[in-house]
Amino acid sequence: MDIFRIEGPVRLSGSVKINGSKNASLPIMAATILTAGKSVLKAVPHLSDISVFGQLLDRLGCQVTRSHSGDLYIDSTTIDNPRGEYEIVRKMRASICILGPLLARCGRAEVSMPGGCAIGDRPIDLHLRGLQELGAKIRLKSGYIIAEAPHGLTGKDVFMGGPFGSTVLGTANVLMAATMAKGRTVIESAACEPEIADLANCLNKMGAKITGIGSARLIVEGVRQLRPVEYQVIPDRIEAGTFMVAAAITAGELKLLNCRLDDMMAVVDRLRNIGVTVDAANDGCVVGRNGPIKSADITTEPYPGFPTDLQAQFMALLSLAQGDSVIIEKVFPDRFMHVAELNRMAADLRKEGATVIVAGVKKLVGAPVMASDLRASAALVLAGLAADGTTVVNRVYHIDRGYERIEERLNPVGAKISRESI
Ligand code: EPZ
Repeated sequence: MDIFRIEGPVRLSGSVKINGSKNASLPIMAATILTAGKSVLKAVPHLSDISVFGQLLDRLGCQVTRSHSGDLYIDSTTIDNPRGEYEIVRKMRASICILGPLLARCGRAEVSMPGGCAIGDRPIDLHLRGLQELGAKIRLKSGYIIAEAPHGLTGKDVFMGGPFGSTVLGTANVLMAATMAKGRTVIESAACEPEIADLANCLNKMGAKITGIGSARLIVEGVRQLRPVEYQVIPDRIEAGTFMVAAAITAGELKLLNCRLDDMMAVVDRLRNIGVTVDAANDGCVVGRNGPIKSADITTEPYPGFPTDLQAQFMALLSLAQGDSVIIEKVFPDRFMHVAELNRMAADLRKEGATVIVAGVKKLVGAPVMASDLRASAALVLAGLAADGTTVVNRVYHIDRGYERIEERLNPVGAKISRESI
């Protein structure tokens, strides 16, 4: 098991290239099983979650390979075992997004119910309800979802809104299933995340007929079949946001290459409010801070609101602000595993339900801390860059799920992070 040993404080300076999006890649990998043949996906990051998804597709009958140049090849000619195994699904909840495409392609799917999650309650009722609206018969058997539509799916108006707003992977599942349903499907209260728009653009390149992309109403005219695709996924806006906070928390300056500011307006708005400069540049932006960190209030919401996947990183930043900030988590109300760990580093955070009061402190202090989930672990690394002394982050495997060898990208711009196996 790896740990990170981080020496702080440091000041970051230089350029970092942003990788392709994990959360766009996963549903797009699932989309390739809608058709028989060889698809090529470009800019898919080298992450443990991507490898696990590759294993999931392998088990269905696909062949997933990587070229030397990094392209991901998925040969979905044969799907002879439409089953998402518990051993794989328990490692990664996003596995659930094979359910819709398998149903559309094979008329039947068995996928293990995802288990618990460190970031809170994550039901899939909206996924199942949406697929049932398209005519699937769904039942639960020994921890597996059994979904059947032997005569195919039929287009219908489907409302996908839930108690916390839209659902990203729920929209992905129903959207993929609808591409080959008979007739028209209207998905109302669809997720508008750039990752869903990327999936829809990829599906249209495969021959689907989707309109309303980027809006909360997606209209899908079902087609008889789709074709394999060559597609490049969008840059990772959450990775970009994480590196923006890295520049800000260290009072440094970073040029982020391959970064789409257009996907990050709520994030950039908050950064500027906090006293961080974000200037567009060729193929990216320059992010820096040379004044005090100002306090600011943040409420997470579905896109285009402030992303929950940057809540922890901004909490680390605001823990060093002048004054108090209020952070409200409206998407995953229990997503606060990082609070106790940041307090171990001398932050002053008080949690009350889905709200955290962040009382700014003069400095953070290095300490041994425990990663619990992907974004919480990123926040601990960022705090370690600014803290006095040594921070040891345990369970680094959490961060490897979503950031490709982060220490090899941060050390060249001034960080002092060593990865050690214990
Ligand atoms: C996606 O998860 C992302 N994962 C998450 O990123 C991200 O935090 C989340 O969207 C929200 O932006 C991937 O794309 C692989 P949701 P997803 O369904 O689709 C409730 C990361 O760090 N809900 O949009 O699983 C749910 O409990 C990960 O990269 C229902 O009630 O999230 C939550 O409160 C973590 N019923 C809210 O909706 C349902 O059927 C939003 O969840 C589905 C969801």
